[in-house]
Amino acid sequence: MTLAELEIAKAQSLEEVVAAADAAAVEALRVKYVGRNGSIPALIKAMKDVPKEERPMFGKAVQAWRAEVEAALQAKGFAAAEKPVDADLTMAGRWWGLGVKHPLSRVIEESAAIFGRLGFTVADGPELENKFNNFTALNTPQHHPSMDRSDTFWFGEDCLLRTQTSPVQIRAMMANKPPVRVICPGRTYRRDTTDATHSANFHQIEGLYVDTKSVSLADLKSVLAYFAKEMMGDGVTVRFRPHFFPFTEPSVEVDFTCHVCKGKGCNVCKQSGWIEVAGAGMVDPRVFEHVGYDPAEVSGYAFGFGVERIAMIKYGIQDIRWLYENDVRFLDQLA
Ligand code: DAH
Repeated sequence: MTLAELEIAKAQSLEEVVAAADAAAVEALRVKYVGRNGSIPALIKAMKDVPKEERPMFGKAVQAWRAEVEAALQAKGFAAAEKPVDADLTMAGRWWGLGVKHPLSRVIEESAAIFGRLGFTVADGPELENKFNNFTALNTPQHHPSMDRSDTFWFGEDCLLRTQTSPVQIRAMMANKPPVRVICPGRTYRRDTTDATHSANFHQIEGLYVDTKSVSLADLKSVLAYFAKEMMGDGVTVRFRPHFFPFTEPSVEVDFTCHVCKGKGCNVCKQSGWIEVAGAGMVDPRVFEHVGYDPAEVSGYAFGFGVERIAMIKYGIQDIRWLYENDVRFLDQLA
């Protein structure tokens, strides 16, 4: 082939590529020109027969032809690679493994949505607290066991990892005039030995409603009953049991009917038909005094849920540690 013939062949090949109607035609042209037995590789093999003095010129022209044909094939959306493109359209695609939200995040987000429908906003507070917010303002007596070094992570005299989300109540009241209607989800810390139902680090959702008009225990019960139904489904009922907390009077512990036996009694609820999920009560007047509210003018209720407790009931999780192991085989099941 002379140089002139080469130029003609090149022009023709480029025209053919441009005119190719579909992927099959493009592939056929790839094979014809740049495939292993195509005409361009054949020319390269035949270079040794080209007179020595013409070889550099001829070689350059062949390389240019090859580059232009490959570019044209590529422009047609077809890689000019030696390996034919796999045209099996039924082949499985690549799976990127979409993640799911962690059950604790889901309980917190769902709770914020449920209480949001009742007019509660979300308040936040730091995990590193002072003694006043975590204990004193919450009317905790100096000798209370929760203040003990063996129960609380202390950093010096006045700094600790909050043992409950209740200090956010204090912060919310000090920063706002009544009415205050907030929930405060977050991490809490206690020197608990970790076992199937305890962890040194866990989560709570605090709730607080304080108003200048009279707020009653019945208001608290109706709000928690609504929350229970929205979170657990229609079958659940709520029970209040008398209890003691320093920052509420009266105080109660809150039980939901057992989701497994629906209240009949089973192993999960230790045959009682009930499962404890929260502490709650009417805000103690001394707490109002600590935050500068006049107890004669305001009243309110507070509650604190264990997030892990709710997640374990809702999703049937038997061991609290599974919530922290980040084992995708476990988390995927809750999707
Ligand atoms: N802070 C309590 C705890 O960690 C839970 C609690 C009880 C919160 C009663 C409240 C409440 O707001 O009114 O055990």
